[in-house]
Formats: sequence, structure tokens, C-alpha cells
Amino acid sequence: MNVLDTIKSRRSVRTFDGTALRRDDAQKIIEFAKQAGNPYGIPIEWRILDSKEYGLSSPVIVGTDTYIAGKMHRVPHAEEAFGFTFEKVVLFAEGLGVGATWIAGTMKRDAFEKAMALSDGEVMPCVSPLGYPAKKMSVRESLMRKGIKADGRLAFGDLFFDGSFDKPLTADAAGALARVFEAVRLAPSAVNKQPWRAVLSGNKVHFYEKRSGGYDNGVWDIQKIDMGIALCHFELAVNELGIKTEFEISDPGFDAKNAVYTASFRCE
Ligand SMILES: Cc1cc2nc3c(=O)[nH]c(=O)nc-3n(C[C@H](O)[C@H](O)[C@H](O)COP(=O)(O)O)c2cc1C
Repeated sequence: MNVLDTIKSRRSVRTFDGTALRRDDAQKIIEFAKQAGNPYGIPIEWRILDSKEYGLSSPVIVGTDTYIAGKMHRVPHAEEAFGFTFEKVVLFAEGLGVGATWIAGTMKRDAFEKAMALSDGEVMPCVSPLGYPAKKMSVRESLMRKGIKADGRLAFGDLFFDGSFDKPLTADAAGALARVFEAVRLAPSAVNKQPWRAVLSGNKVHFYEKRSGGYDNGVWDIQKIDMGIALCHFELAVNELGIKTEFEISDPGFDAKNAVYTASFRCE
């Protein structure tokens, strides 16, 4: 499956069929995670965890005993780097037919952090279950999806802009990049808030975070993780179209109307 199709078919999976994660799938996922980098060059340590061994649980997950989690030092841009790399892992798992769900809140966090042997200065922002999707979602999962409108996304022109924040971008004006922006639009985010905004200016795309209140817990800003996910979708999709990119952090100084600059890609 190519990246654009994988991005389109992915959804959070919270109801699994009860089959144990196959050893070869677990092996492929952990090996992929270990080498999956991020443009910030920040290392992340990954572990696949057995919930029975460590007493792990999440009130929204049923039908699997396997989780993946990552930890890292709390350094500048840790969140974006985590979002970028973890999303690569989620999409890789999807390509294997293994379902996943980003979980930042609905988990027994103490048990996960203990299982990850967090030391001082380390953070474990999110975990994900891994397993094979059940044919039917639990009632709880269906209700949850409805509650957060998980199947919807903001419109293209509400997220992407043409030259400045004053002019919404159209798919026509985006040209070859329209499919890439669409891949960004479909990205998962905490409570489906979709905080990413992007301005196409010449051959550069500048990403911004439109913050909602209450997502920065003092240790990390969950919406910066969402930004890392959006950057990941952009880079994977644009590279799949054969367009080379350079990642840079260089604020172009646009009037961003309360959004905060994150990073840019120069497309060649
Ligand atoms: C950083 C992050 C944290 C999330 N935390 C949770 C969580 O704690 N519990 C949960 O059930 N879903 C969580 N989600 C999943 C989102 O609710 C989901 O991605 C969004 O509603 C869109 O649905 P989709 O992934 O099926 O497209 C999280 C997603 C992200 C990106």
C-alpha cells in the first residue's frame, strides 16, 4: 500500500479481535520504530509492552494485550519529534494490517510510565495499543467517535492558505501539492482538534499551530504532538510524489493571527 492510501484508510482502532499480536508483526514494528527518525534528530526509545505483565490498561481499548510506547528526554521540540516518529510507526503498522490508536489521556499512566522505566528528565507522551481490528466497534468506541466527530475534518480552505493567512488555499492553486495537503488534512489529532495551519508561499510551506486552551499540561503541549503528526504526513506524502524537501525552522514572519510558527518545508 502506498502512503497516501494508508493515510486515507487509517482510523483509530480501539476494539480489537482478541487475537494476540503475531511475533513477526511485533518484530517488524519495533525494528521499524527504532530506525524511524524525525527532522529534529531527537532520539526516542521504544518498547512493545504486554499489558498482563505490567498491569497496563486503557478504559477505551478492548481485545488486545499489546501496547507500544516511546520515551525521550524532555528537550526543545520533543513533542513535534515524538508526533512525527510515532505517526510513522502508526502508518507502518496500518500497512501491516495492525490497528493502533494514539493515547495521551485515557490510560493508566502510572503503570505505563513504570513499564517504560522513565528516569528523571524523560517523558512518555503517548502510547498505542497494537492488534487486529475487530469487525465491529464496541458501543463505547462508536459513541466516543460520534462525540468527538472523529470522522470529520476541517475544510481545506480553513486549514491551508495561499501566500498569507488572508487568502484560503484552493486545491487548484495548490497544484501537485493538493494531494499532499489533503494527506495533512486527514491526520489524527488529540480530540480531533486539528491545530495545524499551513501557508504555501512560493516553493515553501510554513506550518503553524493554532492552539486551543487546555492542551498544555506544563510537561508537554499535546497540540505540538499533533503538529509533528501533520509534518510527518506532509513529508511522507510529498516524498511519495517524488518531490524532494528540505526541513527548516525559519519563521517567515507572517501575520499569523494568533497561530504560532512551527516549521517549514522547502520543496525542490
Ligand atoms: C496526540 C493524540 C492523543 C490522543 N489521545 C487519545 C486518548 O487519550 N484516547 C483516545 O481514545 N483517543 C486519543 N486520540 C485519538 C483521537 O481521538 C483521534 O485520532 C481523532 O478523534 C481522529 O480520529 P481517527 O484517528 O479515527 O481519524 C489521540 C490522538 C492524538 C493525535
